[in-house]
Amino acid sequence: MLNTLEILVLAAGKGTRMHSNISKVLQPVCEKPLIHHLLKELAAFAKKRGVLQFNFVVGFDRESVEKEITSYFNAQRISIPFKFSVQAHQNGTGHAVACALKNLHPKTKDVFVINGDLPLWTLAASEELLNIHAKNKAAASLASMDLKEPGHYGRILKKAGKFIKIVESKDASIAELRVSEVNGGVYVFDRVLLEKFIGQLKSNNKAGEIYLTDFFEKAAKGKKKIQAHCVPDPNVLYGVNTFKELAYAQKTLYRRTAEYWMQQGVCIWDPEQTYIGSEVQLAAGVEIKPFTFISGKTKIAAKAKIGSLCELRNVQVGEGTVIKNSCSAEDSEIGQECSIGPMAHLRKGTKLSDRVHLGNFVELKQASLGEGSKASHLSYIGDAQIGSDVNIGCGFVTCNYDGVVRNGERKHRTKIGNDVFIGSDCQVVAPIEIADGTFIASGSTVTESVKNKDSLVVARSRQTTKPGYAKKYKAT
Ligand code: UD1
Ligand code: MG
Repeated sequence: MLNTLEILVLAAGKGTRMHSNISKVLQPVCEKPLIHHLLKELAAFAKKRGVLQFNFVVGFDRESVEKEITSYFNAQRISIPFKFSVQAHQNGTGHAVACALKNLHPKTKDVFVINGDLPLWTLAASEELLNIHAKNKAAASLASMDLKEPGHYGRILKKAGKFIKIVESKDASIAELRVSEVNGGVYVFDRVLLEKFIGQLKSNNKAGEIYLTDFFEKAAKGKKKIQAHCVPDPNVLYGVNTFKELAYAQKTLYRRTAEYWMQQGVCIWDPEQTYIGSEVQLAAGVEIKPFTFISGKTKIAAKAKIGSLCELRNVQVGEGTVIKNSCSAEDSEIGQECSIGPMAHLRKGTKLSDRVHLGNFVELKQASLGEGSKASHLSYIGDAQIGSDVNIGCGFVTCNYDGVVRNGERKHRTKIGNDVFIGSDCQVVAPIEIADGTFIASGSTVTESVKNKDSLVVARSRQTTKPGYAKKYKAT
């Protein structure tokens, strides 16, 4: 079967049960369009088995679906060719397949058809179905599952173990609804047979649609071998039709990712309440507390500890760094053995060298701090380059914005050298540069650059103390 296989993905449906004007396959699951999860597994399967091409049936919200799939193939550098087949009107899954037949690759002998709404489907499950199909020399195979609550899934009807047909739940009798083996929406077809029967399918059912599932009754009646393969883990066939089902799929995917990382030596306190994205990389020995979201291309080195209620997106975290609870960071780099938070906010472009300490209510944006520098409490550091061993007192602000655009720039930069001491409640008004070793007294508003090293800067009004005046004042 090598190199005679084609993968056909059904993604034209309206997703009526979601009441949304965007396609169901684009709804976000774990911060990515639903179809990304399926594409990841199918692409791995296609690479492993060698497939001729992907064929996507699109229709509802077609431009967006095509754009998303194309950008996925480009971003992942998938070299397998892919085509779009248009289903202008969504007349059912059988009609969707019919729309794709003219675009099948000339060399295709077997067609692997899969519903686009299966974000939990896996590479292993694809291989298993294909192997069983080949081993049994079946004309058509389908993945089924045994469910205590079979819900809206199509029921698989058998007589004395022999396949008869699939009946959709809408059209099923009460007795048929009791059948627990259901259709999962993944199939392998012999191409010739698919082409023969698909045009014969009728829409004489409750939905008035052409059902792909009716193919099986025709094939069985024609004495063709049908193989229903009941998967051991029904989660892989979980179909998403509603937002309730989407929430379950999302939870399962997060759980799956957390379990993977636990197997790799990551200590996750509560995998049910930890949300790790598919592109995140974690080293063995990382510890993660509950209610934490880690997404994008975040990479966390060994011995780092991430506290509860943190959100990290595209963040590099160095070895041994501790991020305490309720911190938010994105597009940032954090060195080794840093201590961050609680409640620190690292916005885009933050770069922290090793052993940096940031305390509570410290916000950074497009700012770098050199090795061993500290900002322990209540500060805003934006558009700034700060040297090493700088001590920033409580309540420091880089005043980077004066409301005026100059030379196309709205924000002004601050540059602070090494070994600078900044007392509490100071502001520096950018653009400004502060030389190495400067000591800025508490309560200073520094408006001019300090060019000479080791200067003492005091920029505050002198104190007046008038003995006895307080008593007099209160008496008035
Ligand atoms: C389908 C099966 C059902 C099975 C279930 C598994 C049919 C008739 N029923 O039901 O037996 O138990 O999947 O999850 O196939 N689509 C199109 N064009 C259309 C209609 C649908 O491309 O005209 C696509 C959808 O985008 C979706 C897939 O086909 O990705 C399945 O359609 P959906 O409406 O979700 O079918 P189910 O009711 O779930
Ligand atoms: Mg479905």
